[in-house]
Amino acid sequence: MFIVSVKPFFSVLVVGLCLTLAVLLLSPSSSLFPGASVSSTHQRGYTDIWSLRRVAEWRPCKWWLQGHLPALPADSNGYIRVDCYGGLNQMRRDLCDGVGVARLLNATLVLPKFEVAAYWNESSGFADVFDVDYFISQMNGYVKVVKELPLEFASKEPHHVDCSKRKGQFDYIESVLPSLLEHHYISITPAMSQRRDRYPQYAKAALCQACYNALRLAKPVEEKAKKLLEVLPKPFLSLHLRFEPDMVAYSQCEYQGLSTASLEAIEAARVDRKPWTGELAKIWRKRGKCPLTPRETALIFQALHIPTNTNIYLAAGDGLMEMEGFTSVYTNVVTKSSFLSSDDFLNMHGNTKAALDYYVSINSDSYVATFFGNMDKMVAAMRAFNGKQRTLFLSRRAFAEFTYNGLKGKELNQALWKAHRDDFVMGRGSALSDCFCEFKL
Ligand SMILES: *[C@@H]1O[C@H](CO)[C@@H](O)[C@H](O)[C@H]1NC(C)=O
Ligand SMILES: *[C@@H]1O[C@H](CO)[C@@H](O)[C@H](O)[C@H]1NC(C)=O
Repeated sequence: MFIVSVKPFFSVLVVGLCLTLAVLLLSPSSSLFPGASVSSTHQRGYTDIWSLRRVAEWRPCKWWLQGHLPALPADSNGYIRVDCYGGLNQMRRDLCDGVGVARLLNATLVLPKFEVAAYWNESSGFADVFDVDYFISQMNGYVKVVKELPLEFASKEPHHVDCSKRKGQFDYIESVLPSLLEHHYISITPAMSQRRDRYPQYAKAALCQACYNALRLAKPVEEKAKKLLEVLPKPFLSLHLRFEPDMVAYSQCEYQGLSTASLEAIEAARVDRKPWTGELAKIWRKRGKCPLTPRETALIFQALHIPTNTNIYLAAGDGLMEMEGFTSVYTNVVTKSSFLSSDDFLNMHGNTKAALDYYVSINSDSYVATFFGNMDKMVAAMRAFNGKQRTLFLSRRAFAEFTYNGLKGKELNQALWKAHRDDFVMGRGSALSDCFCEFKL
């Protein structure tokens, strides 16, 4: 719905933008690039959130980045295939865990299986999205990876070990190693993390290396992504906004003032979870459980002094509701469908679309997420890995608390500014994994 509404004025936007850029570039006083914060006249006098000096930031820890690893064991305990399900970033997260587990068990890794989600209509596996040879070479010394199984296993399906049903502390050596030794070739979906107190650093290092330093998009995907990045207006902010019917239904939150169409879509997406009501709804919302609407997102953006003429790439799939709440305030919003030919777009698999959003988002000048999902965690980490610090998660909790306390207008803006400013300056809230270490500036 929203995408259709973007397209018509997009060509106008490009022309307008070129003119604006030309004017800005020709004007000697313009500071287009240093701050990457194009400030519009009506907001002059305010510092936008990105220009604040940070006191701490996160970088990949030296203990894994610089290697110094013990030699790999001469004998492997067997072969492990990691089977990954769900969205692209969820699969990637499970792959990272699986690599750590394979090293922990002194096993040899075969290429992971990326499960095709039905709605994606995907032919693909790991090799369609990620560069296999690069992965193998980057894992050298961290864990052994093979493309092909030895003949005796080549035609066999691995013995599947289900890790998902166990609760609490999980130890792969106790629970999975016996199966590996018995069957020599197993597949796992590492739904549980290895218990920390028995996780040697060399195995954690394999996880970190796999996740953040060994995955590069496969050439055809990367080329598409690069092209998309090239044509985007710069500088730009990538926004991952989540307000789809299924996610709102799942959140069990109710909203005032949504359109009838949105309410119907949410109702249709509801499976069995009824929304909370009364006091429970309030507690739930205050705990930060309710997705921000596009309108609320625009309000917080303004509180953060993000100029309303900022170029914004919407890193999201179809089906966002209530986008007018955002695009009526922030008018320079584009999506990938604005740039790809419709043929290209129709033939593109879901994994590939997700990969494009991922690529653009790790390369954007700034990244803002309204939620805290697998993509957000992965993007925040990769941005930190690449030294891009302009990453922010909007606080649903702060927003709920302030509005319940009756804050409005200027007061609300100031409270929102302070809450997010502190997060940004202290490098908080980017929730990076153990592979990242805090660095005081
Ligand atoms: C893996 O190999 C190392 C020596 O390289 C050994 O200390 C460790 O106990 C082995 N672990 C397993 C699960 O076989
Ligand atoms: C989806 O898969 C079906 C069956 O494999 C195929 O006929 C159809 O063309 C595919 N659609 C797209 C958009 O790839």
